[in-house]
Amino acid sequence: MPILVITGTGTEVGKTVTTAAVAACALAAGRSVAVLKAAQTGVAPGEPGDAAEVARLAGALTTAELARYPEPLAPGTAARRAGLAPVRPQDVVEAAQKLAAEHDLVLVEGAGGLLVRFDEAGGTLADAAQSLRAPVLVVATAGLGTLNTTELTARELRSRGLELLGVVIGSWPDSPDLASRCNVTDLPEVAGAPLLGALPAGSGALPPAAFRVAARGWLAPRLDGTWEAEAFRGRTGSQV
Ligand SMILES: Nc1ncnc2c1ncn2[C@@H]1O[C@H](COP(=O)(O)OP(=O)(O)OP(=O)(O)O)[C@@H](O)[C@H]1O
Ligand SMILES: [Mg+2]
Repeated sequence: MPILVITGTGTEVGKTVTTAAVAACALAAGRSVAVLKAAQTGVAPGEPGDAAEVARLAGALTTAELARYPEPLAPGTAARRAGLAPVRPQDVVEAAQKLAAEHDLVLVEGAGGLLVRFDEAGGTLADAAQSLRAPVLVVATAGLGTLNTTELTARELRSRGLELLGVVIGSWPDSPDLASRCNVTDLPEVAGAPLLGALPAGSGALPPAAFRVAARGWLAPRLDGTWEAEAFRGRTGSQV
């Protein structure tokens, strides 16, 4: 798995924090890691973007960002309004392949959800994943509404012949409500793929050293962690 595409069921679902956890676990397993943020929106020049946040939390890795647009919009719209060149799926493919030649693992973080448009031709992260033949990890929210957006994302991946590696809950609440607890069982069912972890709410605010130690406990062995779905169900009262 040299290239892993990380998407989400929407924006602000915890893709960046999850990407950092995946990177931290891979680094702890002795692998070299690169993080590619295809297009960074809503951040001014010189400000840290998502890739920098991953490096802050996870440790020594290579970061790359193909374009930056100041307005917090879909990259295609933000590029048009800024009068800047858009990022095309082929640009993402070439950058990821170049990084993969020099690293054991390349994590590609999209912007928002899977079908957010990058250019005026309607190119998306899904197009890049298809060209790369890369597996996709879906970050989902914990509570009510996540079953629908997760299933829609999983169906789109499947219709494109893409491999859905699994689902990670981007922010697991301290006091999970009934919907969140039921979703631990139902998410893998609607996704047709395993639940591969859950990041506790607030984990992104941990000191980096603590984040790196704890990350292994949030992700499944498939992602170099020690998290077990069954034990998590028992621990969180999610056997409902
Ligand atoms: N497990 C978590 N611990 C702490 N903060 C979190 C966690 N998950 C999400 N957040 C917070 O929620 C916000 C969104 O998270 P994040 O930046 O990871 O989302 P995203 O899916 O990467 O969004 P985007 O589409 O903008 O890239 C951030 O402010 C982040 O700090
Ligand atoms: Mg992000």
